[in-house]
Amino acid sequence: MKVLSVFNQKGGVGKTTTTINLGAAFALMMSHEAGTDEEPGRVLIIDLDQQTHSEITLSGGFFGQRRPTGLGPYDNIAGLLMMDTALPVTDIIRTSEIPHGARRNMDFIPSSKDKMPNVDTVLKNDPIDGLFRLRGILETVEPFYQYVVIDNPPGLSYLSINSLVGSTHVVIPCQLEAPSIEGLTSALKTIQSVQRQHNPRLQFLGILPTMCDFRQQEQNEFLASLRGQYNSHILTPISRRADVSYANSEGLDIFSFKPARRSDQLMSANPATQEFAHVAEEIRQRMG
Ligand SMILES: Nc1ncnc2c1ncn2[C@@H]1O[C@H](COP(=O)(O)OP(=O)(O)OP(=O)(O)O)[C@@H](O)[C@H]1O
Ligand SMILES: [Mg+2]
Repeated sequence: MKVLSVFNQKGGVGKTTTTINLGAAFALMMSHEAGTDEEPGRVLIIDLDQQTHSEITLSGGFFGQRRPTGLGPYDNIAGLLMMDTALPVTDIIRTSEIPHGARRNMDFIPSSKDKMPNVDTVLKNDPIDGLFRLRGILETVEPFYQYVVIDNPPGLSYLSINSLVGSTHVVIPCQLEAPSIEGLTSALKTIQSVQRQHNPRLQFLGILPTMCDFRQQEQNEFLASLRGQYNSHILTPISRRADVSYANSEGLDIFSFKPARRSDQLMSANPATQEFAHVAEEIRQRMG
């Protein structure tokens, strides 16, 4: 099982958009690869952000949201991390409404807007395994998933460190603007210190330039300088496009918003689907 943290301490850089679209791409790719009488591999999305943006998309979008039924107030990722639920994680996991065209092989662990804000304090008060609780949860689902993608909250918290400690791989979404360099440098430092102290198996996959506008000369220069510094660690850039933002507002991944004409294909003529498909393939290859 490959566990991918989408991580950047800076807010609003595209972490949630990256999580949803990579998860959807992996689910669609595995749906297409599996034979008709074969079960495709599965993807699990974990939303660690108290804004619960990923979860809103996964459960039907802002307007069509269907709350997971049959679950109590602690039967969610917050309750699991605080050990306040009696249910095993496998009874809490729900199947996502997206991506359309996949064989219902993307799941998520429900989150809780009410309970998530308490989690960090509980983790902080547990000096023995406060950093390892997510890793423990992930170990129990290992047999069922090929990929887990974790959407992280902005800032540095026990939650985001839990994510890095539980992950096998990490990607940093980053905008091509000067203020982003600070965020990038801190994210890289955090990753190195988690690798050293708690999780030597964590592999840094790369920096994903997000919301790029190459009509702006500064963004081209910025990308060139990042490539100079981090060379092969720079992944396929994702452009700023209205369709990505519309898809987010509709509660859809880009592949469901602009589907391919043929049901066995990932990319449509829409350039945003092409960029996300490309980067998903690149990341899949790097994860091995
Ligand atoms: N490629 C893109 N083109 C256009 N808009 C985008 C693109 N990627 C993200 N956005 C928009 O930018 C905003 C921030 O993106 P997103 O929510 O993914 O960032 P985030 O890092 O998860 O933010 P936060 O730190 O608040 O969790 C959202 O409104 C999203 O719809
Ligand atoms: Mg987010």
